Amino acid sequence: MATENDPGMKEAGAFPIDRPTEALLRDHNMVRKLSEKYLNSDSQEVKMQAGKQILQALHMHSRLEESVFYPAVRCIDESLIGHFEQDHQHVDDLLATLDGMSLDNAQSEPLMRELISAITTHIQEEENDLFPRIEGSGVDMTPVGLQMQAFEANMVHMQAQLSDQGAMRR
Ligand SMILES: [Fe+2]
Ligand SMILES: [Fe+2]
Repeated sequence: MATENDPGMKEAGAFPIDRPTEALLRDHNMVRKLSEKYLNSDSQEVKMQAGKQILQALHMHSRLEESVFYPAVRCIDESLIGHFEQDHQHVDDLLATLDGMSLDNAQSEPLMRELISAITTHIQEEENDLFPRIEGSGVDMTPVGLQMQAFEANMVHMQAQLSDQGAMRR
């Protein structure tokens, strides 16, 4: 395989390219931590910060899964992936509503709680019902991992450019 001839690629960044589900798991755990922070704090400031980070992380994570990961693993269980895509649609609707709201007021809290509940169930299902089947399939996930790494790097780059532009306008 082409990637095995290029060990440099494996050292680029901390993305575990041969086990891309581990990268997704890291994202899940980060969202879990932020969700706990949001739910357990009484400070509007802390809630606003954690809430913003949750929205941003979810946006990136969902695009990565929909664009690269799900198409690559659809053959394992088409209806399961279809179910996950519907979950994403529901989460996206909530994200769109929350994006237009100020997260430091009481009105956003029920929606944030609904979002957190939806994603908690969704990521648990991905981890329980999909990831072990990928591991068990014995398929070499390195080509998918490489694509995911590139996609993520590109999204981070674009995000940085957008926030630079925002900073210049201020
Ligand atoms: Fe997902
Ligand atoms: Fe996920």
